Amino acid sequence: MTSKVIAAPLSDSAKSQIDHWIQKFPADQKQSAVLAALHIVQDENKGSLTPELMEAVAEYLGMPSIAVQEVVSFYSLYDAKACGRNKMYVCTNISCLLRGADELMEHIEHKLNIKSGETTPDGKFTLKHFECLGACTKAPMMMMNKQYYENLTPDKIDKILDEAQ
Ligand code: FES
Repeated sequence: MTSKVIAAPLSDSAKSQIDHWIQKFPADQKQSAVLAALHIVQDENKGSLTPELMEAVAEYLGMPSIAVQEVVSFYSLYDAKACGRNKMYVCTNISCLLRGADELMEHIEHKLNIKSGETTPDGKFTLKHFECLGACTKAPMMMMNKQYYENLTPDKIDKILDEAQ
């Protein structure tokens, strides 16, 4: 027997931002705003999407819960489990790989004592590898908290990690 997930309340701010996106699509296709809605809700909730929040987005957009869950599980920028305050996506695709992404990843894993996909015990960092963030000419690179850091070196990584809140 499965139990129904009860939707978490969406904030007024989230609803207002989602409404902005809904208006960009035909009136009978408001579910097209699902990608933006999930980013908005995720950003408001410490970088992750609980089943209750996914249910809330589904209800707000009038779409099946399973469709929202499929979107979250398909795209790497959504997280269904709790994340650290600083989400790091290190690109390990070909351009970055050829410019030392693997070594950078190892450096970060060693410094934070976690592997890709894990969060530090103090909740400060979540580390993930990513397949191309579209900044190939500035490889190797990573995105942390939606900011790009490019032409990375171990020294630059150390400075970024040391300065992170
Ligand atoms: S391969 Fe790293 S940003 Fe494209």
